[in-house]
Amino acid sequence: MDVEKIRGDFPILRTGITYLDNAASSLTPEQVLEKMLEYYHGYRANVERGVHRLSQRASEEYEEAHRKVADFIGAESWRNIVFTRNTSESINLVAWGLPWRRGEKIVTTLLEHHSNYIVWLRAARRFGLEVEVVRPNREGLFNLSDFEQAIDDRTRLVAVTRVSNVLGVIVPVEGIAEIAHEHGSLLLVDGAQAVPHMETDVRKLGCDFLAFSGHKMLGPTGIGVLYIAPTVQEELEPLCIGGGTIRDVGLEDYELGESPERFEAGTPAIAEAIGLGAAVEYLEALGMREVEEHDRRISWAIREGLMELEKVEVYGPKDPEHGMSVVSFNVEGLNPHEVALALDAANIMVRSGHHCALPLVKHLLNRPQGTVRASTYIYNTLDEAEKLVETVREIVKGL
Ligand SMILES: Cc1ncc(COP(=O)(O)O)c(C=O)c1O
Repeated sequence: MDVEKIRGDFPILRTGITYLDNAASSLTPEQVLEKMLEYYHGYRANVERGVHRLSQRASEEYEEAHRKVADFIGAESWRNIVFTRNTSESINLVAWGLPWRRGEKIVTTLLEHHSNYIVWLRAARRFGLEVEVVRPNREGLFNLSDFEQAIDDRTRLVAVTRVSNVLGVIVPVEGIAEIAHEHGSLLLVDGAQAVPHMETDVRKLGCDFLAFSGHKMLGPTGIGVLYIAPTVQEELEPLCIGGGTIRDVGLEDYELGESPERFEAGTPAIAEAIGLGAAVEYLEALGMREVEEHDRRISWAIREGLMELEKVEVYGPKDPEHGMSVVSFNVEGLNPHEVALALDAANIMVRSGHHCALPLVKHLLNRPQGTVRASTYIYNTLDEAEKLVETVREIVKGL
C-alpha cells in the first residue's frame, strides 16, 4: 500500500495534523467527495420516483451503491442491503422490527458500544425479554464455553460486536454464530469497527444481520448499512413506513414492497449513499487484506511503544493476532481528557472518555473515567505512531 499516495487524497492532512481518531470517524478522500459532487452537479433528482432521465440516473447510481456494498461484504444480493443513517439506526431497526415473544432472551456482551447494548435493554423492557451479558477477560478475550452456557433454546438473538471500539479486540464471531444457530437463535454483528478495517464476508461470519456506518470507512456522515439475510427479511418489520415502501395501498390497507424499498421510507440520503459506494470502491482498490495488515502494523507500533512507558497503562489484547487499529490507555494521575488536550496541543487528534461503552470501562476495566484512545487507518504512518508515543513520553515527564 502506497501510504504517501493515499495521503495525497486527503487534503486535510496537509494542515499538519496527526489524525488518530478513526474509530470515531474516518477522513474522506477527494474521490468520494467528487462522486457526491457529480450527483449534485450532474443528475440531482429524487430516486425511484420519476421517469425523467435525471431521476433514472440517480436511481441507477443509488441502486449501484447497494450493489457495491453487497459485493464488499459478500452478500447474496443488493436487496439484502438496507441503507440507514448509521450503525445505531441499523441496530434499532432490528430491535423494533423482530416479532418478539414474551420471555425470549437476547445474549450480548460486556464489550458492546451503547448502540448495541442499551437498545437491547430497552427492547427487553418493552417486549418482556431477558438480556444476558457474556463477560470477556480483562484483555477482552472470550471463552466460547461462556456463550455455550448463555445461549439456550429461549435465545432469539445474539448481538455481538466483531471488533471492540475500546480495546480493539477481535471477537470470534464465527464460533458464536455456530452456537447461536444450534439453538435456532439469530445473530446480529455490530460491524462498525470491523467492516472499515478487515475483510468481511457475511456468509463466512454466519450472521443474520450486520450493521455498520459509512462515516467510519471513508464515506460521508448520514449513511449506514444493515445487511439482512434473505431468510429473515420477511419477518422483520420496517422501523418507518411511508413513501417508497409499498407495493400497493388501498383505502384501509397497504402491502409493503420488497427489500430494500420496504425498509427505506421517504427520500433517502442519495448523495451519501453514492458517496459510500465510492468509499467502498476506494477500499477495494487498496485491498482489505492490505488495509488490515497496515492497520495492525501501525496500531501495534503504538501499543508496543506505549507499553514501554512508565506510568502508562495500556488495555486490550497482548497478542497482535487478537486485536487491531484501536489502542486504549491511561496516564497515571491524569484524566483522559487532559491527556487528549495535551496531545491536541501537539497536533495529534485522539478520543478520550468512555467511548459510549460505559459497561466496559466501568465493569471490565474498572476505569469509570474512561481511557485515551488512539485509532489508526490507511493514511497513518509509523512516524505518526512514534510521534504519539514520544508526545505521551513528554506528558509523563512533565508530571
Ligand atoms: C462498535 C460500535 N458500534 C456502534 C457505533 C455507533 O455508530 P454510529 O454512531 O455511526 O451509529 C460505534 C461508533 O463509534 C461503534 O464503535
